[in-house]
Amino acid sequence: MKQQLENILNSALAEIETAKTSADIETIKLNYLSRKGTLNSIKKNLKDLSVEDKKIVGAFANEVAQILENKLAEKSDVIYAKELEKKLESEKIDVTLTGLGHQAGRVNPLTSTINEIVEIFQGLGFSLIKNENSPEVETEYINFDMLNFPPDHPAKDMQDTFYAELAPNVILRSQTSNAQIREMFSAKPPIRVIAPGRVYRCESVSARKNNLFHQIEGLLIDTNITFGDLKGVLNEFIRIYFGEARPTRFRSSFFPFTEPSAEVDVQCIMCGGKGCRVCSGTGWLEVLGAGMVDVNVLKNVDIDPEIYSGFAFGMGVERLAMLKYAIDDIRLFYNNDVRFLKQF
Ligand code: DAH
Repeated sequence: MKQQLENILNSALAEIETAKTSADIETIKLNYLSRKGTLNSIKKNLKDLSVEDKKIVGAFANEVAQILENKLAEKSDVIYAKELEKKLESEKIDVTLTGLGHQAGRVNPLTSTINEIVEIFQGLGFSLIKNENSPEVETEYINFDMLNFPPDHPAKDMQDTFYAELAPNVILRSQTSNAQIREMFSAKPPIRVIAPGRVYRCESVSARKNNLFHQIEGLLIDTNITFGDLKGVLNEFIRIYFGEARPTRFRSSFFPFTEPSAEVDVQCIMCGGKGCRVCSGTGWLEVLGAGMVDVNVLKNVDIDPEIYSGFAFGMGVERLAMLKYAIDDIRLFYNNDVRFLKQF
């Protein structure tokens, strides 16, 4: 039996010697030292020995167990240290590495263009309209009829204007000019407001057109207002917006709510008036519509045209931003692609 114990001791020591992981250590413990382990099965046979031998073999068995326990503890310390070192190596953090950084959002150029234009007009004495006087969901009555559009005007056609199914004659406004009517209904002259906002038209989308876009409306009503005042304000706006006194031209035009009406062109910023693809060879770019508020409109809102006169203008924000930043596709404004946005 003593021989058996020696064999067990030797083979266990050999296994401990070659153990590589803490799992190996656990297996050895289980095989030799646990209740069902080899050593215990020997001890169970002690009862067959004489009292004398029992003492000797029993003591030796305890000694073997002690040796194995010590060796296992020693080896286990070595393995643990190695494993820890490995783990620390693999989880090493280089605190000197630069961070990943995160992409900050950007202000859409439409928003910054609107802010910029509103600020220019605020500098010229206009104030920002109250939201309630510039709704996007509007009645046909205010968007068209009150603005002197005849009942059969083609713009009212469902092919041009989005009709909401909320109630008959409710539409998504096709122009910010609705704000003129609401402002004149709720305030007494003198009036000087600027009304930026979204407008909607039933249009097929292309590089030049979208069915949602932005306009900025201006309205000034006071005594003794002339077309000269309108020209002065718009020329000043163009000078500040484009950063230099660009040649402008006021072309006679027609809008139902202004008389006389004009469209304003600025000399093409791409070619300086020589004619290019952007200005279709004309040397001029149309930037806005304007005119003296029609007497019929003043009457519609109970403002006495004998006392007051005024002017109005409306400009497309997308168009002004495209011209200033040489953007050739209107759809870029709406995709919110950071590669586009971060250029501004
Ligand atoms: N509402 C016009 C449009 O959408 C633009 C416009 C023209 C506005 C003349 C005005 C104006 O206030 O006086 O085409």
